[in-house]
Amino acid sequence: MQQYGSMIVVRVFNRPIVLVAKPQLIESILTDGQSQGRFTRSPSFYNAYKDVFGVHIGNQVGEAWKWRRQAATPAFRSSQFTQKFDLIREGCQQVINQLQSAAQTGKAVQVDSLFVDLTMNIIASFLLGVTFERTKNFTGEPPFEPQRLYAALAVLEKHVLLQATGRSRWFKFLPTSEGREYQQAQDYLRQNLKPRVAMALQVARTDEAESPSVSPSFRDSMLVKFAKNPQHDQDSLIAETQALIFAGHDTTAHTMSFAVGELGLNPRVFQTAQQVVDEAWEKEGSLNLSTLKHLSYIEAVVKETLRLHPVAAGIPLISTQETELDGIKIPANVGVEPFFWAAGRDPDMYPNPEEFYPERWLQSESDQQPLPLLFGFSRGSHFCLGAPLALLEATVMLSLLLHHFNWELVNGQDSLLDVNQYLTVFPRDRMPIRVVSRP
Ligand code: HEM
Repeated sequence: MQQYGSMIVVRVFNRPIVLVAKPQLIESILTDGQSQGRFTRSPSFYNAYKDVFGVHIGNQVGEAWKWRRQAATPAFRSSQFTQKFDLIREGCQQVINQLQSAAQTGKAVQVDSLFVDLTMNIIASFLLGVTFERTKNFTGEPPFEPQRLYAALAVLEKHVLLQATGRSRWFKFLPTSEGREYQQAQDYLRQNLKPRVAMALQVARTDEAESPSVSPSFRDSMLVKFAKNPQHDQDSLIAETQALIFAGHDTTAHTMSFAVGELGLNPRVFQTAQQVVDEAWEKEGSLNLSTLKHLSYIEAVVKETLRLHPVAAGIPLISTQETELDGIKIPANVGVEPFFWAAGRDPDMYPNPEEFYPERWLQSESDQQPLPLLFGFSRGSHFCLGAPLALLEATVMLSLLLHHFNWELVNGQDSLLDVNQYLTVFPRDRMPIRVVSRP
């Protein structure tokens, strides 16, 4: 590891990667740098991602990315999610019910696992039309098994990482236990998603009179919306679906877990957040769509969590030409990674960076200062499409938790410091907490 000005260079399998930590520099790389073509997605990472997950919006550039992004964007407008606010609240309420049983026995609960189930249910409902009651969407619909889907996606994530860091692409086809695990995961995903995609294509591309019989939630699903785009075919839709299930659950679940952790360690923020929630309930009587306007502090808690614990730690890029970063010459074809973990701790952009201080994301009307940059969802043209959904889910979940419980972390600060990473970063102990019901 070597330091050059504000950047450090690490070697991954003898390939140098420049880790960039300065917020303004990251901003210019992700916005102008990418749009002007001075930086592009790192082939070692994105080829592995493509090889394992198939071609989808998250691993493409140029025209191949553009039409996918355009095809997906209408289904990701905030209004699409607020319209289905009740569904999100219902999912979060199920987590509360589980925690209420734990509160009665005093047993510790790993909230990260509950959040993974929750976010999987929510993305499956938006994307595939799967309902919480599991009513059949169409004849021949495969069962929706969140745990198996999660396990299969985790295997794929692991292989992206292994391949991106130097392991040959054919390693996963060897008749070893790892190779078998990989094939089983791929087979399971394909068998589970193929009938859904085939039905979405039929629904999207036949006249109403001849349209197959499916449930309203499936007809209204993102998958059917995507299938209306003539550039999509069966394979591209399977890849897109896999990628969206992956992008849409882990990220949000682990962010919620880190937020629960930070709240558990910061009594001042906890009390302020709980007071905000209590006042919102008092004004609106319950948590509904109009309660949201009183909950910007809770959304700020989520943003502050993303600053200190960005579950996507950085974006692996590469320089396409010789270029200069912060006065240092970078040759062409060098890995350049905007590194969000470090950027979030920059004292110029975020004063007292070690303090968990959600107030930095709130602006009063008289305030002239611009808000700091939020990198957790990335920046520039590839900015996370699911950010409005993730913020909404996390705000609703945290508000309900604060309304119903006080809690403490079983492992204290270790839960936040001892992290693991596949494609996303998560607390190794899955954030065990002990909840106490509020009177
Ligand atoms: C807290 C939760 C989330 C975090 C931290 C997060 C973070 C990110 C990041 C860092 C990127 C990469 C952007 C880039 O390549 O520059 C991304 C892309 C993306 N995310 Fe998210 N994400 C979250 C939730 C979601 C959800 C809930 C969905 C969908 C339901 C989603 C869908 C996507 C998609 C489709 C892309 C690809 C965008 C593109 O390349 O054009 N994300 N996200």
